[in-house]
Amino acid sequence: MQQVGEKEIDLIAGLDRGQSLPSSWYTDAAITAQEIEKVFRKAWQYIGPAQQLKNIGDYITGYVGEIPVVVMRNQDGLAGFINVCRHRRHEVMKGCGNAKIMQCGYHAWTYDLKGCLKAAPRADREPDFSTSDYPLMPIKVDTLGPWVFASADENCMSAASYYGDLLGIIADSGLDFNALELWSREEWASDANWKTMLENYLECYHCAVAHPGFAAAIDVDQDSYKLTSHQWFSSQVGHVRQSALEGKSKVKIYDAGGEVRQAQYHLLWPNMTININPGFPNLSIDVWMPNGPNQTKGFSEQYFGPGVDKKWAEELIAFNREVGEEDDVLTSSVQRGLIGGVPDFGRFLTNSEHLCLHFQKLIVKALC
Ligand SMILES: [Fe+2]
Repeated sequence: MQQVGEKEIDLIAGLDRGQSLPSSWYTDAAITAQEIEKVFRKAWQYIGPAQQLKNIGDYITGYVGEIPVVVMRNQDGLAGFINVCRHRRHEVMKGCGNAKIMQCGYHAWTYDLKGCLKAAPRADREPDFSTSDYPLMPIKVDTLGPWVFASADENCMSAASYYGDLLGIIADSGLDFNALELWSREEWASDANWKTMLENYLECYHCAVAHPGFAAAIDVDQDSYKLTSHQWFSSQVGHVRQSALEGKSKVKIYDAGGEVRQAQYHLLWPNMTININPGFPNLSIDVWMPNGPNQTKGFSEQYFGPGVDKKWAEELIAFNREVGEEDDVLTSSVQRGLIGGVPDFGRFLTNSEHLCLHFQKLIVKALC
């Protein structure tokens, strides 16, 4: 039987040749369980925008490797808690908003904004019960630019040490990301492994074939559309086509004229993507989480600069939705191929799909 170290060396050597990970890594529930433990609970997970945490009592909620979390602005600043009541483990806070206390909706156990249990009905009649024994458990939080992250690994390095260089790249697009306003947030689900979906995100080799609208707006030629891996994040930078600016595209696309001339698509390890399209100031975020091995669940946030025309914003959202639906058809088909398990390995192109291979190496190193 192969030792763990040998398996890692073999897989990395395969990836260097363009050979993918085996199909079982995309279909085996045991691999997903390891990913939740060793990837999602070790890295930073994006929870939501700092602009929703301006005032004391403002809170947002999310998940870190399936652990419910709440990030609260209290008297001391931002604080992260495991959003699970110490009583029966019901989630305490829902969605986002502003609260004076954190009260569980199941039996009304009530915590203050620092997570201390202040009241538990009928507990005064309970022998050997002290509220001080049951505070909400803390979890690490950090911010990068306008974004708030949480990690279940208390030794996790700062978010800036992972992704800090990204901020300058985004600023180069012509976008002031601090001025953006949250437009909408919605949850979604798809029928493919989370890695299948992100490996599709990480290359534009398929764009000319599968995204006629996108390829009409953005120059997807290999020599102008740049893919760069930066260890813990990766960036794709493209440019708007002149024909799109002149309204001469062969297929109908949104109006791409505006101060943002670049297209940028970033993956922040392991599962946050940030998209900027040419046009007026815009940015969207997706978070991709495993929902078992063969499905992914996530959420999307849309941001626009102040004063961006509502109709234009809706056109861009529709454009992005069309690309997303085209990608869903592709990744669901890939997942059916992976479930069959034959062929066991795929062959990626090392000059067009190197961000996928880099991503797969990070997975191997995290799991082996
Ligand atoms: Fe795509």
